[in-house]
Amino acid sequence: MSDAFFEIENLTKNFGELKALDQVSFQVGRDEIVGLIGPNGAGKSTIIRLITSILKPTSGIIRFKGEDITGKPTHKIINKGIASTFQVVKPFRRLPVIANVMVSCLCKRARKTGDWVKTAEARAQNALEFCGILDLANEPAAVLSHGDLKRLELARALATQPELMVLDEPLGGLNPNEASLITKSLKRLHKGGRFGRLHSEGPAMLIVEHKLSELLELADRLVVVNFGRIIAEGPPLEVIKNPEVVKAYLGKEVDQLISDTQH
Ligand SMILES: Nc1ncnc2c1ncn2[C@@H]1O[C@H](COP(=O)(O)OP(=O)(O)O)[C@@H](O)[C@H]1O
Ligand SMILES: [Mg+2]
Repeated sequence: MSDAFFEIENLTKNFGELKALDQVSFQVGRDEIVGLIGPNGAGKSTIIRLITSILKPTSGIIRFKGEDITGKPTHKIINKGIASTFQVVKPFRRLPVIANVMVSCLCKRARKTGDWVKTAEARAQNALEFCGILDLANEPAAVLSHGDLKRLELARALATQPELMVLDEPLGGLNPNEASLITKSLKRLHKGGRFGRLHSEGPAMLIVEHKLSELLELADRLVVVNFGRIIAEGPPLEVIKNPEVVKAYLGKEVDQLISDTQH
């Protein structure tokens, strides 16, 4: 058995006749940020939903720290240390922002440490502060802008003290300023330090993202999917020059991206 931190092996998902994923395999190391890219409909969100067990695979294995977690209930996966954010954000709209984050703090994993009633609130505040929306703590989630909702989604994931975060388009629909703020937060979080009491090092990350210049700032490695199969994998600057990736996904954007990363 492999000793990879996180590993997907031959993951296949059929929706009726449609093969949304076909024998997908890749790994995420403990210290890595891996970017998952590909055209619309390639299967990226399906991978995220399989990892978090919102969907069950047709076949294949998902392992976390050596353990087969395929198809385990979502709350157990969270308790093992995998937190996720979703492309479409769905908070409890009438609850205050802080209560939305405290709900995450009530999971078994977060309760392991100390006086959990106090720490749930403290940890929620900590997560909100980290994501830059502590000033909105007492507002109902319904009044938040799209950018702030994305930050709330991140705070909710953070509050579970994850070792691996799987993020589906964390920058989706954000303007360049908002995208840059979240990119910086993710970088800071990954480096570890102030946030997180279970692990001084920050969480590993698997990030699905279309905003490539931001993703290139974050990712140590890219995995590219197209029609449910991996077509390229490796160091970001090599992957984005790969002719198959350019043809399937990037088109002319690649020259701009390469010149962006050189500045
Ligand atoms: N619940 C579902 N039922 C049927 N087809 C689905 C379902 N979810 C996704 N698909 C299909 O699977 C393919 C991959 O979708 P998805 O993983 O959402 O792609 P991506 O996130 O890369 O844009 C698409 O063809 C999509 O229409
Ligand atoms: Mg998607």
